[in-house]
Amino acid sequence: MGAAGRGGADRSGDRTVMPRCNTVEGPGGHNTYKAAMNGTYKSEHGGLKNGFVRSGALFEEEKFYNGGLYKRPFHEAFEETPMLVAVLTYMGYGILTLFGYMRDFMRDWKIEKCHNATEREEQKDFVPLYQDFENFYTRNLYMRIRDNWNRPVCSVPGERVDIMERFTDDYNWTFKFSGRVIKGVMNMGSYNYLGFAQNHGVCADSSSSVLHEYGAGVCSTRQEMGNLDKHEELERLVARFLGVEAALAYGMGFATNSMNIPALVGKGCLILSDELNHASLVLGARLSGATIRIFKHNNMQSLEKLLRDAIVQGQPRTHRPWKKILIVVEGIYSMEGSIVRLPEVIALKKKYRAYLYLDEAHSIGALGPNGRGVVDYFGLDPRDVDIMMGTFTKSFGGAGGYIGGSKVLIDYLRKNSHSTAYATSMSPPVAEQIITAMKCIMGEDGSTLGRQRVEQLAENTRYFRRRLTEMGFIIYGNSDSPVVPLMLYMPAKIGAFGREMLKRNIGVVVVGFPATPIIESRARFCVSAAHTKEMLDLALTKISEVGDLLQLKYSRHHFVPLLDRPFDETTYEETED
Ligand SMILES: Cc1ncc(COP(=O)(O)O)c(C=O)c1O
Repeated sequence: MGAAGRGGADRSGDRTVMPRCNTVEGPGGHNTYKAAMNGTYKSEHGGLKNGFVRSGALFEEEKFYNGGLYKRPFHEAFEETPMLVAVLTYMGYGILTLFGYMRDFMRDWKIEKCHNATEREEQKDFVPLYQDFENFYTRNLYMRIRDNWNRPVCSVPGERVDIMERFTDDYNWTFKFSGRVIKGVMNMGSYNYLGFAQNHGVCADSSSSVLHEYGAGVCSTRQEMGNLDKHEELERLVARFLGVEAALAYGMGFATNSMNIPALVGKGCLILSDELNHASLVLGARLSGATIRIFKHNNMQSLEKLLRDAIVQGQPRTHRPWKKILIVVEGIYSMEGSIVRLPEVIALKKKYRAYLYLDEAHSIGALGPNGRGVVDYFGLDPRDVDIMMGTFTKSFGGAGGYIGGSKVLIDYLRKNSHSTAYATSMSPPVAEQIITAMKCIMGEDGSTLGRQRVEQLAENTRYFRRRLTEMGFIIYGNSDSPVVPLMLYMPAKIGAFGREMLKRNIGVVVVGFPATPIIESRARFCVSAAHTKEMLDLALTKISEVGDLLQLKYSRHHFVPLLDRPFDETTYEETED
């Protein structure tokens, strides 16, 4: 996928000059968004609270946008890569590639001394390990900046973390512990959206008492001897939290997707999957044996075209109707910071009588006035989503995943899902961590702590995004998404940004190819309710400083609504027929 490979109906003609922005407009139209982006926007509720601009995210009045589908404005921006930046980025990769090939050439001629990534003599008869492009990329590009990843964290992933300092004496091939711990690094990388990843406080206390009562391990599956009252309590609570009839909880979020999708669809069924869906969804779809077709990220025209074709054409060759059509989307996309256009997806699924599988790994807890995810955010009916999936690894500071839906669905999965039948059930202290955090968000602990955290996250998110945009960075995604991608583009800047931020005691996640398209490298911040305004202000000052140093303030602040632009039908991708 190239520079323009994401973000709504933006695949037409002049894409190199036109920034991308999907905005469902309010009565103030596009200007509302422009004002918000340059920092002068105030909601009707206006005012400042604790120094934060009141975003209105939680207090939007019931108005109807986009033909009545949306009850709230939907601001999503993907500013186009500036032409010069794109050219320089490609040049950067070109130079690195050239040097890589030169080094490989010199290695062959025994001029290059570093032989870490070459086949040993005795391996020469086997399939080559070091010859394909990914390996070339890993050795020659990734290795140069590898110190930015897998840094050992030796504390709770709260708002601050302790990081073990490492050094290398073989060009990042191996690392050694220097003996020093870098204390109190501001954590802008963990998915600790509501700040429940703590080793003190109510969640830690209740988990530790459950640990003493139940122990840590269950040593059996739910269907054999591993079904505890804690699991059933958790499932009842999840169902109430989501507003659905029943729910199932699993010990691993990844397996919740990869093992349940195959239980729901199979041969003769069609999966329509967003092109940026998580690996667990992709794996589940592939394991199911269903036909998979990919629609452009969050692009309703692309989805509708696939739905219409599926209904009109039926299955390939036989033209029989598909047994089931399953649309698979996420709530918040963790690399783009975009929010699914759920009201439109639901309208389409109803129109074409498809099923909807919604993965709320990042959105549950982190979106909506009650923290109940993207359905709550848009004020929709949870019964309109057939399969509500999510994980406990982010906002709840725990581990595992859930599926919620009708009782019929849950009973079916209880019997037929591989992860119910074959996976050991969730550790009781983990279940307790989730129960306590969820009750806190629901206010069932008798406090307003959870509610405050949900509100704080919404305000932190809006504030952080607004300030970065004002500074001139290109920031992707939805104005309400706590996942905040800041575009770096050039390969050398990936490493430089990570290192410079750590020098300033701020831990960030930097991401490059293959996790992103090759020229769209980025830093990905995760905002948390645990961040105070002082922390965010400090982080913003340091980001701005590094932004000036590395010349990262690329934005030209061109935001043009693209909803009316024609969708290029020829670009959708299709696999396996
Ligand atoms: C969208 C999505 N689904 C599923 C998962 C897998 O969840 P877990 O990490 O809890 O196993 C993730 C993990 O990040 C995710 O982002």
